[in-house]
Amino acid sequence: MQEQNAILVIVAHPELEASRINKRLAAALEHQENITVHKLYEVYPEGKIDILREQQLLLEHQRVVLQFPLFWYSSPPLLKAWMDETFQRGWAHGTGGDKLHGKELMLAVSSGSPDYMYQAGGVHNFSYSELLRPFQQTANRLGMAYLPPYIVSGIREVTDDQLEQYADGYITYVRSAAPAAMIR
Ligand SMILES: Cc1cc2nc3c(=O)[nH]c(=O)nc-3n(C[C@H](O)[C@H](O)[C@H](O)COP(=O)(O)O)c2cc1C
Repeated sequence: MQEQNAILVIVAHPELEASRINKRLAAALEHQENITVHKLYEVYPEGKIDILREQQLLLEHQRVVLQFPLFWYSSPPLLKAWMDETFQRGWAHGTGGDKLHGKELMLAVSSGSPDYMYQAGGVHNFSYSELLRPFQQTANRLGMAYLPPYIVSGIREVTDDQLEQYADGYITYVRSAAPAAMIR
């Protein structure tokens, strides 16, 4: 049975214990009511994904948050494998594939470089919205509403105090009915 306001947070960081941003963000959501934090690299250290278990988790939640550090403008590989294997034809798309229709997809992304590098003419030339398009279009294809992402940009610039604010803001953000403005 799906809980109406249940939120599934898929955390995909290959070294979560050594991480600064994602570890803190994940900790903020752990033990929160109606929020399931699912750490992919801990659950599947060998990379072998239990597809039925993952599909069941998706069915039980209304909002799905994909939380990851930006690796070469995309996600770490286990999250890509999770998407490839879990969003099966006949289940998530194609004939009869309507299981995710009406759900919501949100990204929560950390990056090494600061915001100003993510624009035309900057070091990375493109905005986060542009670079994260494959996730946006995957949501569209699956009949999911794509929500604005929660982005923690520029790890060297983020102070410990700011990280605490990001962590607090994250709890509010993932629960928000219409998340839009980043807290920064
Ligand atoms: C393989 C790899 C690729 C990365 N690619 C990018 C990138 O494309 N853009 C960027 O801003 N940072 C990039 N980074 C930096 C990470 O995004 C950054 O260290 C991470 O988001 C920090 O979060 P954490 O403290 O949770 O590890 C990369 C890091 C690694 C290890």
